[in-house]
Amino acid sequence: MEKIDLRTIKEQAGKEVEEAKELKDLDKVFKKYLGKKGKLAQIFSSLRNLGEKERAELGKEANRTRKFIEKKIKEKTPFISGAEISVSKGKKERFDVTVPGKKRLLGHLHPLTLIKRKAEEIFQTIGFSVVEGPEVENEWYNFDALNIPKNHPARDMWDTFYLKGGLLLRTHTSPNQIRYMEKNNPPFRIIVPGRIFRHEATDASHEINFYQLEGLMIGKDISAANFKAIIKEFLSKFFGKEIKIRLRPSYFPFTEPSFEVDINCLVCGGKGCKVCSKTGWLELMGAGMVHPSVLRAGGINPNYWQGFAFGIGIDRLAMMKYKINDIRLFYSGDLRFLEQF
Ligand code: DAH
Repeated sequence: MEKIDLRTIKEQAGKEVEEAKELKDLDKVFKKYLGKKGKLAQIFSSLRNLGEKERAELGKEANRTRKFIEKKIKEKTPFISGAEISVSKGKKERFDVTVPGKKRLLGHLHPLTLIKRKAEEIFQTIGFSVVEGPEVENEWYNFDALNIPKNHPARDMWDTFYLKGGLLLRTHTSPNQIRYMEKNNPPFRIIVPGRIFRHEATDASHEINFYQLEGLMIGKDISAANFKAIIKEFLSKFFGKEIKIRLRPSYFPFTEPSFEVDINCLVCGGKGCKVCSKTGWLELMGAGMVHPSVLRAGGINPNYWQGFAFGIGIDRLAMMKYKINDIRLFYSGDLRFLEQF
């Protein structure tokens, strides 16, 4: 009796699943046969009253029927729900315009690149061309041609990474003075931004590689006064306010006379603070009038031509502009730092 009952249930449920057109039809089938008070539940609860053998047999059969109906419903569902969604799209589906969108992470320029570009832009408005040179140099361009002969103690001013075959990693951008003079006739004015290397211990103000911006202006009667005016103009444009500078006597083999350029401290405005060691001045770059030997090494006659050169630390400029107190941050790749620019 029960056996026939189960077979009917199976057939009927199968048919009803087949005929279901909407999800709610399937729900009805589920409830009717598999629900808590559904047909199968009734059969399961009637098992109690049967003998052991019969109970086992009927129980098995009832389980098979349950699985059959579950499977049928599961197979049919995607067909119905797919159809329903495409039909009802636009009608029932709501688009919540107040939900915040997904923010995509955008890359951006490194602070040193920003500073380099800004410096290039300003120098270009004062008539300087931007030139580049190789990072791997030889001793001639990096030292000898710049009036730093072999075994001269002045070489110790630059801690050098030497490579095989007489090559080295340039320790400054100055070799490009020679490279440019070799190929071009004066008058000219150029800047050479680029990466340089030093074999030294790192700390808050030293890195093994950093960036410099070399400047060179050669003409008939270029003087230190021209240098002072041009560099003052550059710095005032760069920092966006009037900058005071002073030249202090110094020594570089490739310039005579040589000087160090200081600017009034941007932190305290020249009153004296921790950053400028209470002097009111910050050291910014080396400079000088190009040494006659250097002009000669570049194939230029020092009897007719003269000019000035300078080397600014790009990292230094960036540290002053953004008030950063550790040069190593630029090379750390730390996004928490980089994302601030
Ligand atoms: N090359 C020097 C350095 O790296 C900087 C420098 C000083 C460059 C004086 C110049 C200059 O062109 O005239 O320490």
